[in-house]
Amino acid sequence: MQRFFSWVPVLMIVSLGVVLGAQTKPVTTLEEHAAVMKANAQAAGALGKAIGSGAYADARTQAATLRGNFTALQGFWAGRKQDPAVAILKDGLSRLDALDKMLAAPTVDQMAAQAAMKEFQGATCGACHKQYREGDAQTGYKIK
Ligand code: HEC
Repeated sequence: MQRFFSWVPVLMIVSLGVVLGAQTKPVTTLEEHAAVMKANAQAAGALGKAIGSGAYADARTQAATLRGNFTALQGFWAGRKQDPAVAILKDGLSRLDALDKMLAAPTVDQMAAQAAMKEFQGATCGACHKQYREGDAQTGYKIK
């Protein structure tokens, strides 16, 4: 028994490393880029729903996923020397930080958090898609 329990902290550290590693995994190929976008859509959808139902701890988890994705995307766009895309991502990261602060407050202003979430999507996901994305759901999406 004693032996087993002495392993628990080690396993916890290892699995924490795996989680953190997953978030900062670099995005280099177009396939990886598309996969991160699908993850963005999933996290953003779940984030909106969580705020709507007052599940703020869950909302913060989704915001953290977006944060990790955006950090990885910054490397992708910086590597292609696309400063406007990097700037959009940077702005998105500040908006996520501000939203996370709102969600961590002792009393969460649900309406304000929802508004911040909508603004984040418009100013970040929307702005970059307008400038850098072409195609549609039927034919598939590409980088412009
Ligand atoms: C810095 C630019 C940028 C930002 C920010 C961005 N996207 Fe994208 N997104 C793209 C580009 C370019 C494509 C098309 C190429 C691709 O799919 O990889 C795309 C494609 C997508 C797709 C289609 C994926 C597929 O191929 O089926 C979804 C869904 C998506 N984005 C969701 C989001 C969401 C949600 C956010 C915000 C949380 C977001 N994106 C933020 C640039 C961006």
